[in-house]
Amino acid sequence: MIKKCLFPVAGYGTRFLPATKSMPKEMLPIVNKPLIEFGVEEALAAGMDRMAFVTGRGKRAIEDHFDKNYELEDQIQGTAKEQALAPIRELIDKCEFSYTRQKEMAGLGNAILTGETLIGDEAFGVVLADDLCVNDGEGVLAQMAKLYKQFRCSIVAIEEVPAEDTNKYGIICGEEIKAGVYRVTDMVEKPEPEDAPSNLAIIGRYILTPDIFDILRTTPAGKNGEVQITDALLQQAKDGCVMALKFKGNRFDCGSLDGFVAATNHVYGRYQKKTP
Ligand code: UTP
Repeated sequence: MIKKCLFPVAGYGTRFLPATKSMPKEMLPIVNKPLIEFGVEEALAAGMDRMAFVTGRGKRAIEDHFDKNYELEDQIQGTAKEQALAPIRELIDKCEFSYTRQKEMAGLGNAILTGETLIGDEAFGVVLADDLCVNDGEGVLAQMAKLYKQFRCSIVAIEEVPAEDTNKYGIICGEEIKAGVYRVTDMVEKPEPEDAPSNLAIIGRYILTPDIFDILRTTPAGKNGEVQITDALLQQAKDGCVMALKFKGNRFDCGSLDGFVAATNHVYGRYQKKTP
């Protein structure tokens, strides 16, 4: 039912310098697959086949990744190596890709607003590819799309974080209306532990209704001088409804060194199980 998924990939990835000096953070591989490919696979598994990217300078490798590489493909045609391209070829066949550029790095809220031209007037998914989500069953975005069917409002994915980490996330508080599903009553961007309304942190998966664009247009720059999606979502929650889902699965912050290493070990472990 939700067909489009937005990937804001314009950020500088400063936590991962020097690797990200000339290479997009989203192209960092977890074992042998770039983060962005995991994100697109998750969106497709949730029924979304129109992938919309908000890019910036130095991000061309992402566009090239979701395109044919004729010379390379010609070279390995008919060899065993060709098999390694099967998953990305499937994505290229099944999905449409579109791109627009964020003019300045004015925050995630601004990046999402920049994507309006690709999304239009319909509900859409958002994947921050540096948050890698892995689950044996349904993917996180698919779990959220199910909830959207029921509530028809914006949905955020949440997980419990240690109290000392609340200043790294948007934190919600809300009323738990059924196991793992909250109606959001408040949201704060990166609060210090003593100011945090809970330890329920928003991770990099959203389903947004298109009225978010009008709200973002008038949302002033917030924390760090950036337009924060959390501020716009709080407005939506006050005017109508925003739901939060405690998802099933593992999430790794691959924009941080520790998260990247943990994700690599986790995914490598899964590969080994599949190839005894
Ligand atoms: P992050 O803050 O995690 O990404 O933003 P970053 O800025 O690239 O990383 P650091 O902190 O400097 O290491 C979350 C997501 O939002 C995108 C980023 O690309 C990332 O996927 N983003 C952020 C934009 O597209 N535009 C922005 O102005 C800010």
